[in-house]
Amino acid sequence: MPPYRNVAEFNDQAASYDRGWRGRLRHEIAERTATLAVATVAAPSRVLDLGCGTGYLLRALADRYPDAEQLVGIDAAPAMVKTATALTCDDRLTFTVGVAEQIGCADDSFDLVVSTTSFDHWSDQQSGLRACVRVLRPGGRLVLVDQFSRMLLPTMPTSRRGKARTRQRATCLLRAGFCSLRWHRLHAVIINAVTATKPA
Ligand SMILES: C[S@@+](CC[C@H](N)C(=O)[O-])C[C@H]1O[C@@H](n2cnc3c(N)ncnc32)[C@H](O)[C@@H]1O
Repeated sequence: MPPYRNVAEFNDQAASYDRGWRGRLRHEIAERTATLAVATVAAPSRVLDLGCGTGYLLRALADRYPDAEQLVGIDAAPAMVKTATALTCDDRLTFTVGVAEQIGCADDSFDLVVSTTSFDHWSDQQSGLRACVRVLRPGGRLVLVDQFSRMLLPTMPTSRRGKARTRQRATCLLRAGFCSLRWHRLHAVIINAVTATKPA
């Protein structure tokens, strides 16, 4: 397995991940993402959250999509998956250890793929996006949320070498498999969302 960034750190953080001001900020971002997801896809049957952490977003989506049949969370950190499973009592939700770059799900099997503040940690963002295209049904939608800002340009040649941390860079990667890209302000200046569609 390639060196997936910070997975050991996320394992250590899992038990306290939802606490304190950081926890409140993460929940706010998840709630806004859920609102955007509902505006993007009104009634999906199958939903996938990549880098789901403790599962807060997927539970919020389960509340907002009462008719959804299955909501799947995948995360690289086993402790996150364990915490997410322990916090969830809705049978429609399942959480699995895995990585965005090698999603272990069937082709064309999801109506909606979401991901919040995980993309920046993927070791191969282009492969991860290719995997999103593969598992989405034709016409299925992606809602991708992360730090995308020109303010992050100074970090790109150093600590986050090669990562798509601006709208422009992310747009280039997304255009390889998606159409109908639309950017949305999500939180403050830095946290932005992009919605995109797998061509029918
Ligand atoms: C900052 S946390 C975000 C968690 C959650 N989405 C949220 O918004 O609170 C990033 C998560 O991405 C996971 N992650 C990192 N690299 C990954 C990869 N390549 N594939 C899937 N998950 C990954 C980490 O284990 C971590 O749980």
